[in-house]
Amino acid sequence: MQLKIHRFLFLLLLILSIQEIKSEEVPKISLRLFTPRAILSTAINVTWFTHGNQEEILGFKCKFWKRNQNEEEAVNVISLNKFQNWILLDGLEIDTYYWVKCRAFNSFGQGDETSRFLEKTFKKAPQKQPTELKVTKVDSSTIKVTFHYDSPSYTKFEEPLEGFKSRIWEKDQNIETAVDKIIPFGEKLEFIFDNLISGKTYQLAVLALSNGGDGVSSPPITFEIDQITSNEEFQLNNSEQIS
Ligand SMILES: *[C@@H]1O[C@H](CO)[C@@H](O)[C@H](O)[C@H]1NC(C)=O
Ligand SMILES: *[C@@H]1O[C@H](CO)[C@@H](O)[C@H](O)[C@H]1NC(C)=O
Repeated sequence: MQLKIHRFLFLLLLILSIQEIKSEEVPKISLRLFTPRAILSTAINVTWFTHGNQEEILGFKCKFWKRNQNEEEAVNVISLNKFQNWILLDGLEIDTYYWVKCRAFNSFGQGDETSRFLEKTFKKAPQKQPTELKVTKVDSSTIKVTFHYDSPSYTKFEEPLEGFKSRIWEKDQNIETAVDKIIPFGEKLEFIFDNLISGKTYQLAVLALSNGGDGVSSPPITFEIDQITSNEEFQLNNSEQIS
C-alpha cells in the first residue's frame, strides 16, 4: 500500500512537471511575411510582422530554396536578434526565383511556419564602366567631374540604369571613407564636389547604378586640387583602360 502511494505520487509529480514544461513551450508567436524584396542581384530582404509576445522567443529562422528545387534542399538562415523583424538572404544567384518561409524559435522548439513566398533577385548591375573622366577646378576647394557613358546599352542580363555614383576619398584613406554623390539617370553627367583641402591627394571614381547594385567602377583618377590650374582640365589618361 505504502509503495503504491509512493508510485502514485511519483507519477503525479512526473505529470505535473511535464505539464510545466509544456506550458513553457515552443513560441506561440505567429509571423506574417511581407513580400520579400530583392535589394540587389544577389540579396533578398525578408521582413515580417509578428503577432504575440516577442519576449518569449530566441530568434527567427528563414529558409529559402530555388523555385525549381524541392523544399528539402532549402538553406536555413538564423537571426538571434528577436527584435529585428527582417533577415537578409545573401549570396543568391542573380535573376533567380526563390521561395521563402520563416518562423520564430526558442529553446523549446519552433513556432508555426509562414506560408511560402516567391521573390526574384535582380539581374546584374551595369557591366560597363564610365569613361573619359575629367576633373575641372571650379574654385580653390571645388571641382567639377564630367564623364561619358555609352548610352543605356544594357543587355537582357542587366537591370536598366538608374543613375550614376561618384566616389571621392583621400588617397591615404580606405575607400570605405569615400563621400558618394548620386545623379539620377537622364540628368547632366556632372558631379560637383566642394570642401576639398589643398595639399591633399584625392582619388575619384564613377560608376553606373541600377536595381542590380553598383556597376563596374571606372579606374580611380588621382589628383591634388592645387595641381589643377583654373579652367584647365585634368583628364585621366585612360587610353589603355578603354577597350
Ligand atoms: C530590410 O527591410 C527592413 C524593413 O524595411 C529595413 O528596416 C532593413 O534595413 C532592411 N535591411 C537591409 C539590409 O536592407
Ligand atoms: C596618354 O597615354 C598615351 C600612351 O600611354 C600617350 O601617347 C599620350 O600622349 C597620353 N596623353 C596624355 C594627354 O597624357
